[in-house]
Amino acid sequence: MFGAAAREVPVVGQGTWHLDRADHAAALATLRAGLDAGMMHVDTAEMYGEAEPLVGEAIAGRREAVFLVSKVVPGNASRAGVIAACKRSLKRLGTDHLDAYLLHWPGHHRLEETIAGFGALKASGKIRSWGVSNFDVADLDRALAIAGPGQIACNQVLYHLGERAIEHAVLPWCRANGVALVGYSPFGSGDFPNAGSAGGRVLARLAEAQGTTPRAIALAFLTRAEGTFTIPKTARPERARANAAAGAITLAAEAIDALDAAFPRGPKPRTLPML
Ligand SMILES: NC(=O)c1ccc[n+]([C@@H]2O[C@H](COP(=O)([O-])OP(=O)(O)OC[C@H]3O[C@@H](n4cnc5c(N)ncnc54)[C@H](OP(=O)(O)O)[C@@H]3O)[C@@H](O)[C@H]2O)c1
Repeated sequence: MFGAAAREVPVVGQGTWHLDRADHAAALATLRAGLDAGMMHVDTAEMYGEAEPLVGEAIAGRREAVFLVSKVVPGNASRAGVIAACKRSLKRLGTDHLDAYLLHWPGHHRLEETIAGFGALKASGKIRSWGVSNFDVADLDRALAIAGPGQIACNQVLYHLGERAIEHAVLPWCRANGVALVGYSPFGSGDFPNAGSAGGRVLARLAEAQGTTPRAIALAFLTRAEGTFTIPKTARPERARANAAAGAITLAAEAIDALDAAFPRGPKPRTLPML
């Protein structure tokens, strides 16, 4: 279940940051291939340039099957600003509602205001649920205190093999409070472990044993805990299909231990890492 959205959402979804920089036809074909392969969770944002219209084009005719997520930039997150920003996103996406609408990162507008805006959007049917992104535990505590339990759909945070900081406190908080944890940049935003590195060799060994790719093994590791999701981005249809296949992989305890040793969690940083 995807937190307060109370929907079954596939663990592997599709990111769209910088997708508007790719060839338009290839980007469109990739999103559609991803949907065909079951990656119905599509993550976009008002900040991602022309990604929203691209997503709108890709989901046209199959909107109801898609779990569509967009985000408001903190500068627009006053009560009225959230409502206006959502309306602009809906127009760009060519739809009348979002399945989840997120605050992209904590900003200067009072969280009470932002959450009031989300509440108004929910009441008018423009969004089905709302969530947050790049929220550390103190921010999450505040959001929970304002909104009350059972209201936050997800917290979208940086999570890849080389950056496991969220495992210290954010992930346990989300699990304890029924909030979906969506890990972004699962391939390090283009910095995936080199095949020749020690970690790369562990990934290759596990991939060979399971008849899959090192990246699929990474995605399976990042979604090993109940309530965790991941949203890799690609601009190539065959890669979208390969990423989608990771949703069906279950890692044995020994494989998880091997990855844990190869990509250690490290100490808890003072502030939550984000891109
Ligand atoms: N909330 C936030 O603050 C925040 C911040 C960052 C990202 N995000 C979200 O998270 C999504 C994913 O993160 P990201 O875009 O930073 O990067 P990412 O998904 O970690 O990595 C994308 C890179 O991996 C490559 N790639 C993807 N699948 C591949 C495959 N199967 N084989 C080989 N290479 C592959 C892509 O290349 P090609 O495209 O050339 O295939 C691209 O260079 C974003 O698109 C966005 O939706 C959210």
